[in-house]
Amino acid sequence: MRLVQLTDTHLCRARGGTLLGMDTDHSLRATIELVRRERGRIDVLLGTGDLAANGEAEAYQRLEDYFSALCQDHFWLPGNHDRREAMLSVPTAPQRLVREIRAGAWQVLLLDSQVPGEVGGALGEAELCLLEDALAAAGTEGLYSLVCLHHQPVAVGCQWLDEQMVADAEAFFAVLDRHRGVRAVLWGHVHQEVERERGGVRLLASPSTCVQFAPGSARFRADTCSPGYRWLDLHADGRIDSAVSRVTDVVFHVDLESGGYQ
Ligand SMILES: [Fe+2]
Repeated sequence: MRLVQLTDTHLCRARGGTLLGMDTDHSLRATIELVRRERGRIDVLLGTGDLAANGEAEAYQRLEDYFSALCQDHFWLPGNHDRREAMLSVPTAPQRLVREIRAGAWQVLLLDSQVPGEVGGALGEAELCLLEDALAAAGTEGLYSLVCLHHQPVAVGCQWLDEQMVADAEAFFAVLDRHRGVRAVLWGHVHQEVERERGGVRLLASPSTCVQFAPGSARFRADTCSPGYRWLDLHADGRIDSAVSRVTDVVFHVDLESGGYQ
């Protein structure tokens, strides 16, 4: 299965809206163009949260159009900037907000780590039960699993971001540890590339399609790296090939002096 993750698109209500001075429609279109050039045909496109800057319905409709032009099979999960009612206002939402995708030897799970009104994430009892049941079913059927969510379940080394990590990460990993087929966990939120490993499970985070956050920063700091995306090839024997790629042929403006963003 050839999969692409586009995350933290932060689309504003109107085309041309900006985040820290960067036009998030423009940066998403440039990233999609890069995917098209580099990846050719893809099977599944994942949008792992913060798809809208402020949860506006207009942003999700444009997201639908941008993603559909790249891949018909695209799926969304919510981040802290998203608003579920607005996501559901897009006519195709029932297809986009599924919790499980299956293809060949693989199961892809899309979890909801959003806590309404909060920046930080948590899964909670219902999501953890869903995860447990889905992984048990995959185990019975001999499927490999890729688990996706918005917030990071491990500290990434930026103090300000790590205060927002999944609050019940310990319970999350306790569920993963009970199932042998989990091959990777994939998230957004941190606007930077992360690649770790925990007990044979790969832990992957990816650049935003707009503004980047500086690795290792104690307080909010934007980075000069370009927008990018992650591709993942999920093989029938459970192996995953994956890498991040960034736009190199477009110059983006970002306000590096900013102390934060809303
Ligand atoms: Fe974000």
